[in-house]
Amino acid sequence: MLKGKNVILGVTGGIAVYKAADLVSRLIKEGASVDVIMTESAQKFVTPLTFQTMAQSKVHTDLFGLLDYVDVEHITLAKKADVIVVAPATGNTIAKIANGVADNMLTTVILASTAKIIFAPAMNTNMFLNPITQENIKKLEALGHEFVPPGEGRLACGDIGPGKMAEPADIVEYIRFSLVEKDMTGKKVIVTAGPTIEPLDPVRYITNHSSGKMGYAIAREAASRGAETILISGPTSIPEPKGVKVIKVDTTQNMLDAIGEYFDACDILIKAAAPSDFKPERVSTTKIKKIPGDNSGITVKFDKNPDIAAYYGQKKTNQIIIGFAAETDNILEYASRKLKEKNLDFIVANDVTMKGAGFKGDTNIATIIENNGQQTQYPIMSKDQLSKEILNKAMEIIKNK
Ligand code: PMT
Repeated sequence: MLKGKNVILGVTGGIAVYKAADLVSRLIKEGASVDVIMTESAQKFVTPLTFQTMAQSKVHTDLFGLLDYVDVEHITLAKKADVIVVAPATGNTIAKIANGVADNMLTTVILASTAKIIFAPAMNTNMFLNPITQENIKKLEALGHEFVPPGEGRLACGDIGPGKMAEPADIVEYIRFSLVEKDMTGKKVIVTAGPTIEPLDPVRYITNHSSGKMGYAIAREAASRGAETILISGPTSIPEPKGVKVIKVDTTQNMLDAIGEYFDACDILIKAAAPSDFKPERVSTTKIKKIPGDNSGITVKFDKNPDIAAYYGQKKTNQIIIGFAAETDNILEYASRKLKEKNLDFIVANDVTMKGAGFKGDTNIATIIENNGQQTQYPIMSKDQLSKEILNKAMEIIKNK
């Protein structure tokens, strides 16, 4: 969420310029206001019109251009930036910035700005690994600037190795991370996410619809705000959030055990996962076979799994424990009951049958019920935004303790 943030995107000349257009679109979607500065070489790959259309604002190219208003353009730009992102960042531009050269609009704005710079390098492998480039990178990092590491693979020039510009989604993650206020520094947060799986035999298991999106969004937000964040995740296909220690588990019992190592020292435990309440009584060591000619099915008996939230709810001393309630009916009544039974500080009730809420999507619709009975109902919002609300509430409880 970059609402209200001013991002200056410096686009320099490399084949990855086409990815920078996607980056602009993602930044705008996150609510940022984006000013694009293109170097002369960047304009050889893509015209300013592309970026102007994406950013919905004038693209800055010429340091000495005549303006239709009285303004020192590069100084105005330099002052308004919350962050400057150079993507793609060529070896040439990195070298100029590391050495204080100001010979075009981008390098001049950077020299005049006090904002943090995030570089997404994109260049030939030998250029990237060249000790001169590496020295320049170290120098800029020592000054507090950041580099989104380039990916490895076959580059446009045919070489194989590091030098591919990071994906726009990862660059946005870096930007978000660096801009969010670090109000959770010093706090230790455990988040659980995703489903658990309970095996039936070596090839089959039972599980549920949880994608992990809700829990990953909370972990990402907690880490961006400076919390030491441990994400205990069932099987999901979501990339690991920046700055988060991720522990992958499979069964409900494993999820319970994994929390155990960190629980005593944590400040907040958030149970956004959907652990399986039951597991097959017996796990076959070999694949359960169909018997030829036998049309009857099989009966599987299930045992109860431990309730992780209730277990830690009993053990808690000073920790805040937050549960979720995935309900299909009598939402608030069932959620309030779980809040009490599991000894939680608050519970986030979501109706998983509602459009825009619950499993898999990017949005949720929730009501927070606190252990003093207070209820706050939230309209449909992104899981990112709901994560903010949940962490704000947790921090409010900690402050009022
Ligand atoms: O992952 P997504 O696709 O983004 O979907 C998000 C979500 C719907 C999974 C999430 O918003 C959510 O509601 N998570 C809780 C799912 C769940 O297990 O709800 P429950 O009402 O069955 O359990 C209540 C609470 O007890 C939950 O905090 C749950 O983590 C916890 N629990 C449940 C069973 C169990 N054996 N141990 C537990 O700790």
